[in-house]
Amino acid sequence: MGRIAVTDGMAPQAINRLIEAGHEVIEGSIEANLLEAGALSGFDAIIIRSATILDASVIGSSKGLKVIGRAGVGVDNIDLDAATANDVVVVNAPRASTQSVVELTIAHLLSSVRKVAVCDRGLREGKWEKKLMKGTELSGKALGFIGFGRIAQGVADIATAFGMEIHAYDPYLPAKVGRGLGVRMHADVDDLFRMCTHLTVHCNFSEETRHLVNADRLALMTGRGADGVHCGNHLVNCARGGIIDEEAAFMALEKGTLSTLALDVFENEPVESDHPLLQHPGFHGTPHIGAATLEAQVRVGLDIADAVDAVLRGEKVDTQVNR
Ligand code: MLT
Repeated sequence: MGRIAVTDGMAPQAINRLIEAGHEVIEGSIEANLLEAGALSGFDAIIIRSATILDASVIGSSKGLKVIGRAGVGVDNIDLDAATANDVVVVNAPRASTQSVVELTIAHLLSSVRKVAVCDRGLREGKWEKKLMKGTELSGKALGFIGFGRIAQGVADIATAFGMEIHAYDPYLPAKVGRGLGVRMHADVDDLFRMCTHLTVHCNFSEETRHLVNADRLALMTGRGADGVHCGNHLVNCARGGIIDEEAAFMALEKGTLSTLALDVFENEPVESDHPLLQHPGFHGTPHIGAATLEAQVRVGLDIADAVDAVLRGEKVDTQVNR
């Protein structure tokens, strides 16, 4: 069947699925300069996660490449127009990691308001700061979603069970769909900042969403919960780096406009150890681990293996992201 390069790792079950389907699988990362020099020529498919960048020049020099499989959701490391222009089908695995990202988002929200990371840092330094570590409940507060797709809806279900009021901004979701889900939909993203003390980002990164969370918008947050409690303002991003202006968020932490900032994704990854946020007590983070669970990685791998196999067999798949 086909020759498939797997450059950013994949669950063994998924590799076996491809081999059992009759494909030759070559595992291992390929350096950017080799990709540009045509290292993928002679491969029918490549399966990547976020580390491999397939820009126009790489795609253009990959003679014979038919399919790019993105083992995950985000396709911002692939030039989709170049893929289309070169007759390369791009498929992703949009559903497989939903639950894992939902759970990580909830973990960050809870960690923010109960200062779990701050307490842990203190304990390690021999501090028993019980009196200083008073938190607030999520219950009774307004949670705003920037983007209201599958992951956001999963987070909203759990947040609703905690007793949170759900607000969302998503220009791509018909308002009546959101309202049908019991959500207060807002046409103006600024309203989320005015009305919510807790915000979570769930949109794609694009020029339209770049620095959508900026100094002016953060200044609109009131810090007063829907239940009247002075809970401060809390911001979480487990979607994509670059949607939050990190410099503005840092300044808002310094001023106290923002009480906590929790990030799983960053403008530049991996984050440099001298990043100012890493020094700020109001910040806690994780290294882009939203989809990094045993369960999600097996599901992601199997989904993308099946999709790539189907395309190589000439079938249409519903997870094709370019046309
Ligand atoms: C995704 O887009 O699926 C996640 O961010 C995970 C990843 O990039 O590895």
